Amino acid sequence: MRAILFVCFIASAVAWGSMGHRIVAAVAEARLSSASRQYVTQLLKAVDEYDDLLDLAPLADQYSNSGSGDWTSECHYVNVPRGTTAFKDQFCNDDCCVVGAIRNYTNLMARTVRNPVPCKFGKGDEPCPLAFLTHYIADVHQPLHVAYKDDHGGNSVQVSFFGASRDHFGEPYNLHSVWDNAMMYQWNSNMGAAIKNLTMWIISNPKLVFEFEKTSDPSEWATESLKITNTRVYAQDFSANHDIGVGYYNANIGIVIQRLVAAGLRLAKTINRITGGQ
Ligand SMILES: *[C@@H]1O[C@H](CO)[C@@H](O)[C@H](O)[C@H]1NC(C)=O
Ligand SMILES: *[C@@H]1O[C@H](CO)[C@@H](O)[C@H](O)[C@H]1NC(C)=O
Ligand SMILES: [Zn+2]
Repeated sequence: MRAILFVCFIASAVAWGSMGHRIVAAVAEARLSSASRQYVTQLLKAVDEYDDLLDLAPLADQYSNSGSGDWTSECHYVNVPRGTTAFKDQFCNDDCCVVGAIRNYTNLMARTVRNPVPCKFGKGDEPCPLAFLTHYIADVHQPLHVAYKDDHGGNSVQVSFFGASRDHFGEPYNLHSVWDNAMMYQWNSNMGAAIKNLTMWIISNPKLVFEFEKTSDPSEWATESLKITNTRVYAQDFSANHDIGVGYYNANIGIVIQRLVAAGLRLAKTINRITGGQ
C-alpha cells in the first residue's frame, strides 16, 4: 500500500518528495514528548490506517493538487528577489508563503491544543493543522523552496542527473526535483535505511544538532535555505553543463542530509513546545 501511494504522490510532488517528507516526520516522531505522542494519537484515533506523523507528512501536497486545496499551492514556498540574503516578511503574500503558513499553523495548534481539530484524510479534505505544520516545516528546509520566481524555484531549469534525463517515475529531471528527490535517492533509496542513517548522523553530530535546535524562528530557517540557494544550488552553470553528476552530488549531499535532520528536529521541538504549553 505504502509503495503504491508513494508513486502517486511523487508524480505530482511540489516539495520534498513523499519520501523526504516521511523521513523528516520519522526524525521528529522519535523525539516527541509523551504529551505530544498522546496528542498525535488523539488526533488520529478516528482513522484506523493512520497512526503516526509519517502518515500526515505528505497530505498538504495531495491537498494542493486537489481542486479544493488550490488556495494552498503558494503556501509551500517563498519567492525572493535575486540578490537577497535574508528572508523578509514583505516577501510573503498575505501570509501565504511557507514561513507565514508555519506561523499560522503553529498558532492555530497552540490555540486549540486542548480541543484540537481532528485529522481527515479524504481526497479534498483540508488537512488538520498538525499535517500542514509537519509538511511545511519540511518544505522550508528544502533550499529551493526559498528561491527565485524567474525560474520557479528551479522547476524550469531542465537538467539531467548522472546522465539520465528522466527520473524513476518517468518525469523529466529539473533542478527542483533533483533537490526534492534525486540526490536523496542516489544517497539511499530505501526509506527505512535512510532513517537509520539519519539517526546515526544525529548521534555522531551533537554540535550541529545543538545548533539546529537553537533556532525556533521559521524566518531563520528560511534564511538558512536561502543562503544554500545563493551559494550552493546555482554553483554550477546549468546553461553550459546541464548534467548534474558526481561532483555536484558530492558537494551537496551533506547539505541535503543536514536539511532533513534540521527539519525533523525542529518539527519535534515545535510540537513539543505546543503540547507542553510553552
Ligand atoms: C491559516 O489557517 C487557516 C485554517 O486552515 C486557513 O483558513 C488560512 O488560510 C491559513 N492561512 C495561511 C496563511 O496559511
Ligand atoms: C550514511 O550515509 C552516508 C552517505 O552514504 C555514509 O557515508 C554513512 O556511512 C552512512 N552512515 C551510516 C551510519 O550508515
Ligand atoms: Zn510542499
